Amino acid sequence: MRSIIKKALQDISENNSQVVVDVPLERFGDYSTNLALISAPRGTNPRTYAEGLVYKLKANQDLMNLIERVEIAGPGFINFFVKQETLLLELAKLVSQENRYLNQADRKGTVLIEYSSPNIAKRFSIGHLRSTIIGDALKKLYSALGYKVIGENHLGDWGTQFGMIIAQIVRHNLDPKDLSVEDLEKLYVEFNNEMKNDPSLRDIAKEWFKKLENKDPTARQIWQIVKEISLREFKRIYDMLGVNIENEHGESFYEEKMPEVISLVKKAGICQVGEGGAIIVPFDDMPPAMLVKSDGTTTYFTRDLAAFYYRIKTWNPSVLIYEVGSDQTLHFKQVFETVKKLGWSDGRELKHVAHGLIRFQHGKMSTRRGETIKLEEVLEESVQRSKLIIKNSETDKGLTEEEVKSLSYDVGIGAVKYFDLSHAPESDIIFDWNKIIVLEGNSGPYLQYTYARTQSILEKSNFSDLDIGTLDTTKLKSKILDNELSLLRHIIHFKEVLEDAATTYSPNLLCNYLYLLSQKYNSYYSSNKIIGSENEFFRVVLTKAVGILIKNGLSILGIKTPPKM
Ligand code: ARG
Repeated sequence: MRSIIKKALQDISENNSQVVVDVPLERFGDYSTNLALISAPRGTNPRTYAEGLVYKLKANQDLMNLIERVEIAGPGFINFFVKQETLLLELAKLVSQENRYLNQADRKGTVLIEYSSPNIAKRFSIGHLRSTIIGDALKKLYSALGYKVIGENHLGDWGTQFGMIIAQIVRHNLDPKDLSVEDLEKLYVEFNNEMKNDPSLRDIAKEWFKKLENKDPTARQIWQIVKEISLREFKRIYDMLGVNIENEHGESFYEEKMPEVISLVKKAGICQVGEGGAIIVPFDDMPPAMLVKSDGTTTYFTRDLAAFYYRIKTWNPSVLIYEVGSDQTLHFKQVFETVKKLGWSDGRELKHVAHGLIRFQHGKMSTRRGETIKLEEVLEESVQRSKLIIKNSETDKGLTEEEVKSLSYDVGIGAVKYFDLSHAPESDIIFDWNKIIVLEGNSGPYLQYTYARTQSILEKSNFSDLDIGTLDTTKLKSKILDNELSLLRHIIHFKEVLEDAATTYSPNLLCNYLYLLSQKYNSYYSSNKIIGSENEFFRVVLTKAVGILIKNGLSILGIKTPPKM
């Protein structure tokens, strides 16, 4: 619908890129544009200019078939009110297409989303949790919109820190097979502490990393075991979260690919020899990036260039999204600027989705200084807390123990995911169980509960899916209440919200939409009888539509919608 209005405006405007169509507050209509305000010639009152535009719009028959009226408001906004008939047709389309609603064939471009990317030999941090959840939602969002999506897990499995871990294992004569990820993390912290008193350890670590790069069998074997131990733990977390990242290429994967990339950078003439023979890439407006260190080893930056090169050669994506914490902003600016200079980014959109921190009430959740919050424990606690609200919720009638267990899982994991996703990625968030595991407010359980409510109503209704799917809208026209209209007017924006959430990399927009939808539906439900009402059929259809949207919306966010709760 928005695209039709946008097209109509573009047809009558001189500069297409100026045309922006928003969704205003309800009383100002269903769509609104500031086109007259920004394009009225100097000296012309924008309201007068808007009148001219509206006159032209009214000549557009295709548009006017869908629109009830067009109004000019305030200093010169143009507001569109959609016909009730159009709203009903949209509703009919939605309930008849149901789950096929979003399964579109690949017809747009390819979007590569790199996310999660934890470091081996370290526990999976809460920062990687955010990346995993937001990245996965972005992937599903683009996929729902018909893009081909490629998920990439850029595991941190290379770099001098592995020199330290190997050195520590060898110095203490440990059998790496006996170690847990927690032990590995401790070894790293210990080594760093010891290094403060004995700076020569740094060289030993460097030496071991060099050996690793040179395929020394001892170094390789230890590293391989460390990697397996870590991946086993990560897999447990991914399974808990229900996340599957199709491609996993650790930084080590790019080892053999780096020489070519380094020579391409040299050939392009965008690097210099720096201190001690290191090779750096300088920039006008930020510090240089290190391409090759003075001891000849490569860096995180080098591997990112190699990864970029590999990705464009392998998948030729038109959009590359990196979901990584905001502490790496400079790094990605350097990477993006470099690939631009190399001509590798031409025609592609590059985006670092820089998520903020999660804090517990007492400071940052971090593993770096030994302040330890175990991610699995957080997830398990969420499941436990969910069990309590399920036990207390009104629709828990006759659920078996097994059902309660799986429900607690879907609600508990969903709640943590939703809490994360309901915030703009870039904002810092404070982890607060009182906002996460609650049946009211902008929470996962609230939406799941609303979904379950729609399903229980549908179950009680006398209409089959077939009745609903073959809805004849002409029968409904006269009987629509204000709160029903308000729901209908919200329903039409679903796909537009998906588009906005994708193009602005903000799954939180979808959360807001679903929250508002649920609020509208619940308030409607509490003041109107559905089953057994005179207008039962229409109300059931509306209920069905709300259920479809919550289910589709939450599934894009990676959150389950159990039918009962
Ligand atoms: N492993 C890195 C870390 O945990 C994140 C990787 C981000 N992605 C990238 N392409 N550099 O800090």
